[in-house]
Amino acid sequence: MKALVLSGGKGTRLRPITHTMAKQLVPVANEPILGYVFQHLMEAGIKEVGVVVAPETQEDVKRFLKNGGRWGLKIQYILQDKPLGLAHAVKTAQPFLGSSPFVMYLGDNLLAEGIKGYRERFLEEKLDAFLFLKEVENPKAFGVAVLNKKGHITRLIEKPEKPPSNLALVGVYFFSPKIHQAIARIKPSARGELEITDAIQELMNMKGLVKGHILEGWWLDTGKKDDFLAANTTVLDDYIKRDICGQCDSQSQIIGRVRLAKKTKVIGSIIRGPVVIGEGSQIIHSFIGPYTTIGPYSRVIHSVIEHSVLMSHCLVENIARLEDSLIGREAQVIQGENHSKALRLMIGDNAVVEV
Ligand code: TTP
Repeated sequence: MKALVLSGGKGTRLRPITHTMAKQLVPVANEPILGYVFQHLMEAGIKEVGVVVAPETQEDVKRFLKNGGRWGLKIQYILQDKPLGLAHAVKTAQPFLGSSPFVMYLGDNLLAEGIKGYRERFLEEKLDAFLFLKEVENPKAFGVAVLNKKGHITRLIEKPEKPPSNLALVGVYFFSPKIHQAIARIKPSARGELEITDAIQELMNMKGLVKGHILEGWWLDTGKKDDFLAANTTVLDDYIKRDICGQCDSQSQIIGRVRLAKKTKVIGSIIRGPVVIGEGSQIIHSFIGPYTTIGPYSRVIHSVIEHSVLMSHCLVENIARLEDSLIGREAQVIQGENHSKALRLMIGDNAVVEV
């Protein structure tokens, strides 16, 4: 079985961060989201992966994934000229997929449990599509499925006004090659995209066997700032163990599950986990609170930071309180005059914000 990872798209909902980087490479706990996706594919025993890329971000994606050797996977890159929908991405990848069954994994989605074991179930039951579902509070924002008692999907609707269930479609799908015939029969939707939900509905019309599985563990779609911060929080909660490699002076306290990478320096500061601090960063006379990721080679000086993500080479100086924030690479947040309010920011790479 092959895998198809979708790493194109526009990422408009995560601007300005996505003006300068691919959404799928935004780091969660200092690991790009694509890193988790590839880990899951490796664990599921996949060997060959097609990666759909966009012209604007393909070089960055290739620089990170390289030839897939880190995960023991063989990669073929597939250029999608325009983000014309998930089903369009599959169509573009058809020469790579051939007549193989495949798992399609959206490159900005994260699943707690990974996908191990499901490939076998999909193949054994000879399904044409096997979809992951998750109960959500706001089904109107998702593709929604109706499932019968036998686990068959009977209906699929994209962002329904009146949701017939609270089961959202998660961004991981197993398909038999029959999906290509279904895609050939659908037309672009009102937003001009070839929708995967339409293709699966067509597959059902063609009497294809489509089943769903309701996920128990968390599922995170990192498409927007708050979702992204929620992903950071969940991953820090679940994956981070205490691991102190950097230097910490006697005036500092490191409490709980904190990962301090090598060449980091902590001086006169308190770090309360779960927190990850990347290589070469310096934390000076500051408080780093729970659910924070500090990217490599960043500096935090005389500041308080909680529930935030700083990417690499950032500077935060003299900030009374920075929370719920996403700070792009090489960005600086510095205080000019006296300022004591909490800041909530989302700023792109290279920005300088003086408050
Ligand atoms: P979306 O989040 O649905 O789309 P997007 O990336 O364009 O983001 P936004 O809505 O904020 O503008 O895409 C889900 C995943 O699929 C994501 O990893 C990007 C990828 N994708 C493609 O590779 N090709 C496409 O044509 C589309 C629409 C998405």
